[in-house]
Amino acid sequence: MAEVKVRLSGGGYTIHIAPGGLDKLGGLVRPLNLGDRVLVVADATVAALYGERALVSLRQAGMNASLAVVPPGEESKSLAAAEALYSQAIDHGLDRKSAIIAVGGGVVGDLAGFVAATYLRGVPFIQVPTTLLAQVDSSVGGKVAVNHPAGKNLIGAFYQPRLVVADTGVLTTLPARELASGLAEVVKYGVIADADFFAYLGANSAAVLASEPAVIGEIVRRSCEIKAAVVEQDEKESHLRMILNFGHTIGHAVEAATGFTRYTHGEGVAIGMYGAARLSSILGRCGGETVAAVAALLERFRLPTVARGCRAADLAAYLARDKKSVGGTINWVLADAIGRVAISSEVPEAAVRQVLEEITR
Ligand SMILES: NC(=O)c1ccc[n+]([C@@H]2O[C@H](COP(=O)([O-])OP(=O)(O)OC[C@H]3O[C@@H](n4cnc5c(N)ncnc54)[C@H](O)[C@@H]3O)[C@@H](O)[C@H]2O)c1
Ligand SMILES: [Zn+2]
Repeated sequence: MAEVKVRLSGGGYTIHIAPGGLDKLGGLVRPLNLGDRVLVVADATVAALYGERALVSLRQAGMNASLAVVPPGEESKSLAAAEALYSQAIDHGLDRKSAIIAVGGGVVGDLAGFVAATYLRGVPFIQVPTTLLAQVDSSVGGKVAVNHPAGKNLIGAFYQPRLVVADTGVLTTLPARELASGLAEVVKYGVIADADFFAYLGANSAAVLASEPAVIGEIVRRSCEIKAAVVEQDEKESHLRMILNFGHTIGHAVEAATGFTRYTHGEGVAIGMYGAARLSSILGRCGGETVAAVAALLERFRLPTVARGCRAADLAAYLARDKKSVGGTINWVLADAIGRVAISSEVPEAAVRQVLEEITR
């Protein structure tokens, strides 16, 4: 089992990465000396596939585990869903030492984490991420949230888990499009921090797409390591952590302009990363070969690099809205080379316009 340690001011935690990790869950939770009662939260899809295995493992370790099921999909990241979970936590008799365990993708992780952060002013939280996106991104870093009708993730907290168990074996049932969505974030880690890892992804792309266990294990481990290193230096997102937003500025605009229905988050980020690479090249920060390398790897992973049919003006309007909400300047994450990025708020409007035109053609 590979382990990645996340060292934080308030203690830190370990990410355990291995196929079959789900069956070791009880044994990994036990040494944390929490209460015997635990509430497992999963969406209906994941509950049907993996709920029983999680419960069996926890019960074999002597825990009184019960399962709360929410409907699959982003709609479950709501205050209404959180309220239903508070009721189940009360019914199951959870006290301050009882853990809430998220088994699922980013939706369940964010929702269950928000409930754990607020129920009884905070109870222990454990993540068992089951999508690639959740294993390499949302389960690391301590951001938890629910959505508000006015926008995504508007109600949330920084709340660190006590333990993360990433069972790479469960990724075999993940639909190909969800796998690709997670791969976009994996490519991002290569671009922002590690040229060797970026090259590894290209050299092993066939094995990645075939979900070969050894390669998937390695990309989850390295991605967690990179995200953990950034989060350790900047727990609450003041500056350095912004590099994790590479590709997300344009990506969010693409997601929003298409009503969050046409593209998955990873697909939006893929388009955004290509756009950010092009922007970097227009500004003379990197050469065309960097842009070409980003595009080639994304295409290899069956991710889009352009948002055909979107209007540049619509994307510009979303960027302007974002700009307002963050205090008047957009902090662009730009690539100087594969493996090296910088943050800049001095980006001429005309260059942004050109990129938006290019990615919507
Ligand atoms: N907290 C953070 O730092 C952070 C970071 C990135 C994204 N997010 C959030 O994560 C959410 C997206 O997460 P996601 O992409 O994991 O989506 P998701 O949780 O909706 O999961 C995607 C789909 O895959 C299914 N699924 C999950 N695991 C499966 C498996 N092993 N086999 C088969 N099907 C499976 C789910 O039922 C769901 O239908 C968004 O709400 C986003 O805001 C949070
Ligand atoms: Zn993302």
